This record gives sequence, structure tokens and C-alpha cells, in this order.
Amino acid sequence: MDKQTLIDHLNEDLAGEFGAILQYITYAAKATGPYRPQLAQFFLTEVADEQMHAQFLANKIVALGGEPTTQARPVPPAKTNREMLEAVLVAEKQAGKDYTRRAEEAEAYGDKGLVVALEDMVRDEMGHSEETERMLRDWPL
Ligand SMILES: [Fe+2]
Ligand SMILES: [Fe+2]
Repeated sequence: MDKQTLIDHLNEDLAGEFGAILQYITYAAKATGPYRPQLAQFFLTEVADEQMHAQFLANKIVALGGEPTTQARPVPPAKTNREMLEAVLVAEKQAGKDYTRRAEEAEAYGDKGLVVALEDMVRDEMGHSEETERMLRDWPL
């Protein structure tokens, strides 16, 4: 794993985190119905975690000598509460897979601190996807 490839992959992750922030902010605004207060709260709580991930990645990219992207991954279209939760579950599972892969790449590159940080992020994203999956399990509509 060479440094430039690692920087490029971390930038793909950073675009994903920016996309997740946009996704949660817009979905929080769009949540409707009797569960709106809890859903909006849930989505907005996630924003704080994703912001921490984005900040970590931007700092690490600069530390490695790279330029952090300012592009966000597109937010998947979703109309209903269920569609939004399903889109969130897909994105969170993907993030968990991406950081698992990235931790392996950081190991190959030889940056143990980055490995540990990325593994922490795997745990965060797993928590997000498990929470979302449980909400969807008995979703009424
Ligand atoms: Fe994240
Ligand atoms: Fe997440």
C-alpha cells in the first residue's frame, strides 16, 4: 500500500462522511408522522458522529501530505420514513465495510495509529447500522 493510494482511499471515505452528514441533515428535515420527533433526533445525533469521522479523515489526509476533498458522495433519494431508514442502513453498512478494508490497508502501509482509529470507526458505523436495523424491524409502514 503506497501513500498516495491510501490518501486517495481516505478521500473517498471523507466524501462518504460529507455525504452522510448531508443525508442525515436532509432526512431529519424530511421525517414525517407521529415518529417525527424521535426520527429527527436520531438522524441529527448521527451527524455529530459523522462530523467527528470527517474531521479525523481530513486531518489525517493533511498529515499524510494530501489535500482533503470538499466533494460529498451524493445523497440517495428517499421519500418516506422507511425509504430514508433503508437508505441509511445501506450507507452505514457500506461505511463499516469501507473502514474494515481501510484498516487493512493502513496495516499494510504500517500506520498502527490509523489502524486503531479506523477500527474505532468500524465500531461506530456498526452501532449506527444495528440501531437502524432494529428500528426497521417493526416499522409499521
Ligand atoms: Fe461515519
Ligand atoms: Fe455512521
